[in-house]
Amino acid sequence: MAHVEHPGPVVHAPAAPGRIPLLGHALPLWRQPIAFLESLREHGDIVRLDIGTWPVHVLTSPDHVHAVLVRQAQQFGRGRIFDRLRPMFGNGIVTTDGEFHRKQRRMVQPAFHRDHIAEYAEVMCRAAEAMCASWTAGREVSMLNETRRYALSSVADMTFSGGLSGAAIAEVHRSLPIVLQGMLLRVVMPKSLDRLPIPPHRRFDTAAARLRRIIDQAIAQCGVEQEDRHDLLSLLLSSVDAETGAKMSPEQVRDEVIAIMFAGTETPATTLAWIFHELGRHPDVEKRLHEEVDAVVGQRPVRPADLPRLTYANNVFQEALRLHSPLLFTRRALEPLTLGGVSIPAGAELAYSPYALHRDPALFRDPTTFDPDRWREDGDEQPRAHRYIPFGAGQHKCIGDSFAVAEILTAVATVASRWKLVPAPGVTVRELPAGIPQPSELPMIPVSRH
Ligand code: HEM
Repeated sequence: MAHVEHPGPVVHAPAAPGRIPLLGHALPLWRQPIAFLESLREHGDIVRLDIGTWPVHVLTSPDHVHAVLVRQAQQFGRGRIFDRLRPMFGNGIVTTDGEFHRKQRRMVQPAFHRDHIAEYAEVMCRAAEAMCASWTAGREVSMLNETRRYALSSVADMTFSGGLSGAAIAEVHRSLPIVLQGMLLRVVMPKSLDRLPIPPHRRFDTAAARLRRIIDQAIAQCGVEQEDRHDLLSLLLSSVDAETGAKMSPEQVRDEVIAIMFAGTETPATTLAWIFHELGRHPDVEKRLHEEVDAVVGQRPVRPADLPRLTYANNVFQEALRLHSPLLFTRRALEPLTLGGVSIPAGAELAYSPYALHRDPALFRDPTTFDPDRWREDGDEQPRAHRYIPFGAGQHKCIGDSFAVAEILTAVATVASRWKLVPAPGVTVRELPAGIPQPSELPMIPVSRH
């Protein structure tokens, strides 16, 4: 069993093969990042990677990941990816750590309470209905665009209601995709190049400023309106810290809203896209899903109360998320320590990859096979908690996991109750590297089920 010990004799982590001076492992990471990250497990439980001159210790064993995220979490801070995000997104729970993060998390958590998720789910049901109603039988749709629009609507609608909501929601649809796209470039580029006056930077800065402005306006509006609103914005503005009795400043609420929008859009959109891709490739799975949805929902609109009864749909979701998980998150050692016999100096960066863990043949039977039945109550994956961490673990575990489950099951069930989605002929869907690897394209043809 791995655990974090106090420092002993210095033992270095083995370096991944293929390192060259100055560039480190930048070339294989650039050419085939996903395959390269997956290959690291062959070289040890902790493997050193050099991204240029930036060394990262990649954890390939679930026990070490659990030690860093949960058992010894207080010895680790957020790490470089999050440092690069902070100037853009401010001090929301996504980018901060330590006492400040714990306080903010306590205040944001109530907005993700079960009762609120049920309220948001009502809105998701309407958004999923609208998506299905916009399709025409036989006319190809890009399921990448459709799932992005649906995820943007889910997050924007849960955030705003009241007077300004139309303008704010439209601004989220306009600006957030630009911000999400530009962000990846900022994370991988050196900080010194942030101010380069190139078009992607200008587009990013303008979109981020517009997003901040509309959220600030909505916050100001909340202050003058007397309505009893149940959106994320008003929940955060009225949230009181149980320990100190303090409320958040309007600026802090804005940072939290941006953090949640940033963390909560691309991941569910991409997961949903992969689900439709896998269903299109596995007609047997699709047929069983249709049978379940017909029995639970029939032809009426999906209701939030249906979601817990969609057990097979939930297995399909878990399995798609296993195969298509987020690629990499970082942490930073706050003090010198030893992990599994390897010395980690203070300030060293560590990283874990849910994607690589979930495809490890030592952890999952036939890991590249899409098999929702492995998640059945009597299936072989149920007890393996530390190995399946699509939402992370510990104090930074995804705050939106229940929101994501509701959002995804609502869309899957609504679509399944109306449409069968057939992959467009002659298209090979490839996996593109990103924070959560994306389908290269996903054209599908809706065929009416009724
Ligand atoms: C399938 C969908 C999703 C996946 C796979 C996912 C995955 C994750 C993971 C792995 C982390 C932890 C990162 C780390 O260890 O550093 C995380 C954090 C987070 N997620 Fe999600 N997420 C999803 C959906 C959402 C949604 C829908 C929201 C909000 C509406 C959301 C909001 C957040 C926030 C705010 C954090 C930071 C939590 C903290 O540091 O305290 N996520 N997510």
